[in-house]
Amino acid sequence: MPEVKLAVRNVSKAFRTPTGSLPVLVDQSLNVGDREFLALLGPSGCGKSTLLRIIDGLVQPDSGEVIQDGRNVTGRTGFGKAMVFQTFDLFPWRTVLDNVAFGLEVRGVDRKTRHERARRLIEQVGLAGFERSFPRQLSGGMQQRVGIARALAVDPDILLMDEPFGALDVMTREVLQDELLGIWQQDRKTVVFVTHGVEEALYLADRVVIYSPRPARVCADLTVPFPRPRSEETRWLPAFAEMRREIGEILKQAGKGRP
Ligand SMILES: Nc1ncnc2c1ncn2[C@@H]1O[C@H](COP(=O)(O)OP(=O)(O)OP(=O)(O)O)[C@@H](O)[C@H]1O
Ligand SMILES: [Mg+2]
Repeated sequence: MPEVKLAVRNVSKAFRTPTGSLPVLVDQSLNVGDREFLALLGPSGCGKSTLLRIIDGLVQPDSGEVIQDGRNVTGRTGFGKAMVFQTFDLFPWRTVLDNVAFGLEVRGVDRKTRHERARRLIEQVGLAGFERSFPRQLSGGMQQRVGIARALAVDPDILLMDEPFGALDVMTREVLQDELLGIWQQDRKTVVFVTHGVEEALYLADRVVIYSPRPARVCADLTVPFPRPRSEETRWLPAFAEMRREIGEILKQAGKGRP
């Protein structure tokens, strides 16, 4: 295991609901290695987004800590982390260029510099020519390209991705998976990628952590051995199909233990 970049230590979180307290995370710990591509896999509603939001500092845990580069960053956003959301979450009144440049703007980067950097990233994610378009004028896949460019704009050490391709059709999803791998291959940021796609997790990640239904607990922690760079051929490896079946079985067993 490489040096630990990010650690979740004994984190618990319950939400107050009209019918009482809903435990979502109970004493969960997780280590993410420096430059590791980690996928978190689990059934809908198990607590993946909650865990990612706690890592990002958007949600405060009831107890436990988030440690980044050896520092306690619990409940604090920023610090070289950027998030890509499932629902894209773009500003509808801003152009593509100004959406991508947003993070630099709030950091006080001057207009010329931030626009230059945003233009470069827009090109990198394949959207050159759409700088002046508004989100509503783009397809879902294009909007998520903007989401990725916006997250990369601040040059984060850690990229947090919450089912970024979940809302896209299969073809678009596979194209964006390859583009993400291409970008990641260049400067290997630490990535925590939430998904409920078994194939997606296997195709992208170095390691897959599998969670049970709520309250989320780790059912398995698997190393993904397929060589990089990965391509369509990776999906056809016999070992790929075997791991997909194995993980499917783990998820099924975990579901049976449901209270
Ligand atoms: N702010 C909140 N207030 C109350 N309950 C919440 C809140 N956020 C999440 N929950 C509940 O916590 C549980 C876990 O939600 P979470 O969004 O973390 O699941 P998830 O694993 O990301 O699911 P999905 O795969 O469907 O996105 C759910 O039962 C949800 O209803
Ligand atoms: Mg979620």
